[in-house]
Amino acid sequence: MALHNDLLLRVLRGEKVERPPIWLMRQAGRILPEYRAVRERLSGFIELVQSPDLVAEVTLQPVDALDVDAAILFSDILVVPEAMGLPYEMVEARGPWFPKTIETMADVDSLISGDNAAERLGYVYDGIHKTLTALNQRVPLIGFSGAPFTLFCYMVEGKGSKTFSKAKKMLYTRPDIAHKLLQKITDTIIAYLRQKIKSGVNVVQIFDSWAGVLDSASYDRFSIPYLRQINEALKDSCPVILFPKGAWFSLQALHDIGSSGLGIDWNIDAAYARTITGPYKVLQGNLDPCVLYANEDTISQEANRMCNDFGPCHIANLGHGVYPDTPLENVKHFVNSVKRFRYS
Ligand code: CP3
Repeated sequence: MALHNDLLLRVLRGEKVERPPIWLMRQAGRILPEYRAVRERLSGFIELVQSPDLVAEVTLQPVDALDVDAAILFSDILVVPEAMGLPYEMVEARGPWFPKTIETMADVDSLISGDNAAERLGYVYDGIHKTLTALNQRVPLIGFSGAPFTLFCYMVEGKGSKTFSKAKKMLYTRPDIAHKLLQKITDTIIAYLRQKIKSGVNVVQIFDSWAGVLDSASYDRFSIPYLRQINEALKDSCPVILFPKGAWFSLQALHDIGSSGLGIDWNIDAAYARTITGPYKVLQGNLDPCVLYANEDTISQEANRMCNDFGPCHIANLGHGVYPDTPLENVKHFVNSVKRFRYS
């Protein structure tokens, strides 16, 4: 059976379309009262992530509420470190916290990786099956993973950070440990995403959320080679979108990886991105999420400007996840503005 709305897949295949598809990073989450209602019934975030029926329910919520062109499987990037042997806690109002972190080569050696780690994530694959049934072919389903460097940041730092200086310290003092860890994470991501694709996701996105703490030389050493391995391993079975938040300095190297799509944030403007990628690269993004605090006229103007600036070969999105306190009406207005846009 074919998808009723395959606009996202057609753009990723390089087909000509009349408007960009739109979905939002963090579309499933606290902007939706129905999400907050599900969360309130549970003891915590991790319980939600590990319950396939609820995963399907909250993955569908933004498809129903916002009529976006894609669903993104509700989960978290931190399920991968957990499957490798580093459990996390989600501390209310503070974010993720890891009781155990990676410091030595022996710590890296003790981690589970590849298929052995991926097979511990059965609840994610069950969630995909349930979600596909509930979606009933309405829109494509996006699966995702953190990028090796971003997961490395959490596994070494043990929590969120503005600088990730503890994680970066390892890059400069023990690059041998860093590379060994990055390779183990990469092997696990590949095994995990292969299982997600086998379970039925139509697209995968790799979130390199902390790319922006590096400079281009260190990004070339500690992120690009691993992203390339992931793209090479998966590209024949599924379109891959890379989202390197803050990595404007490595746009050329990222483009050269040759993924189906490349997400950019608002620190890069569309015209500059196009000078590097050319007109045919599928770019995703990049409205500043704060635009959605503005009035309706401003939101539609900015949506139109974004669509015009990128031109075709574009997936409309924000430049990062939607902020939880964004008025839902404004989010809807943004989605509808993009859906009214037509390439001339
Ligand atoms: O709609 C979607 O985008 C799918 C769901 C999704 C979540 N996390 C749910 C979530 C996705 C794609 C992620 C990825 C994720 N998780 C990233 C990469 C994307 C990005 O934002 O850069 C990162 C860095 C994480 C790690 C993470 N998870 C943090 C830092 C936090 C706490 C921050 C916060 O907003 O509280 C989470 C928790 C989290 N993951 C929430 C949601 C909806 C909020 C927790 C809650 O409901 O209480």
